[in-house]
Amino acid sequence: MEHTPSTHARHLAAIDAPSDPKPNADASTPQRGSLRTRGVGKTVPLPDAPLTILDGIDLDIAPGERVAIVGASGSGKTTLLSLLAGLDLPSRGEVWLDGTPIHAASEDARAAVRAEAVGFVFQNFQLMPAMSALDNVALPLELRGKSGSDAARDLLQRVGLGERLHHLPRQLSGGEQQRVAIARAFVARPCILFADEPTGNLDRRTGLAIEDLLFDMDAARAATVVIVTHDERLAARCDRQLRLDAGRLLP
Ligand SMILES: Nc1ncnc2c1ncn2[C@@H]1O[C@H](COP(=O)(O)OP(=O)(O)O)[C@@H](O)[C@H]1O
Ligand SMILES: [Mg+2]
Repeated sequence: MEHTPSTHARHLAAIDAPSDPKPNADASTPQRGSLRTRGVGKTVPLPDAPLTILDGIDLDIAPGERVAIVGASGSGKTTLLSLLAGLDLPSRGEVWLDGTPIHAASEDARAAVRAEAVGFVFQNFQLMPAMSALDNVALPLELRGKSGSDAARDLLQRVGLGERLHHLPRQLSGGEQQRVAIARAFVARPCILFADEPTGNLDRRTGLAIEDLLFDMDAARAATVVIVTHDERLAARCDRQLRLDAGRLLP
């Protein structure tokens, strides 16, 4: 029998997990923290003719990897991120999020995977306008029936907003709002973090500080990070760049 790296890994897995009756039974099952797509496409109906936004997307992102998605405006980056994160369903193909097939999952099932595994940072911050910084950051934990205020206070301290706990989003600058959003994204210890142009609405200097913060918050690389960005410098700080062109991944 030929001992390829993967059969070797299977043997190690069997040794490491003797109590598991079927250790890694299907070696092709994606791992926790990973992302996988196979043949993913998105087509939307428009009045004249259907519009294909994405097509033939095959990708694998390993746990702990940092990947940038780059490409011109309109190339399909946000659509791809929405599919990877289970916010939207593909028209065809498979999406595996954190080891779970979500292409056929109900909205509730996808929401459960997102709540369990995923953090988001958006270009427009998307904080709850009527809630304080502290309550915004605590929200992901509160939604799971946990008390979030201690963890939220700690994280706001870490992002440099320990003195702004009770400010509303509109009382904060764009850079400060994005700091709150980053604290919120990390508060529930996600294993996958998605960021869509996280520095896109910030001036250069503020954007650089936010970029540093994003990476510093996950210095231990506990999370897989997928960042959509126009910023070549931010893209270059990732392990790998995926380039979209008119809805297709360039080789
Ligand atoms: N729900 C939709 N209905 C119609 N067109 C859409 C929809 N979502 C996205 N598009 C179009 O698909 C293309 C890709 O959009 P998007 O994923 O937002 O690109 P990017 O993030 O790279 O700028 C754009 O031309 C956009 O107008
Ligand atoms: Mg976009």
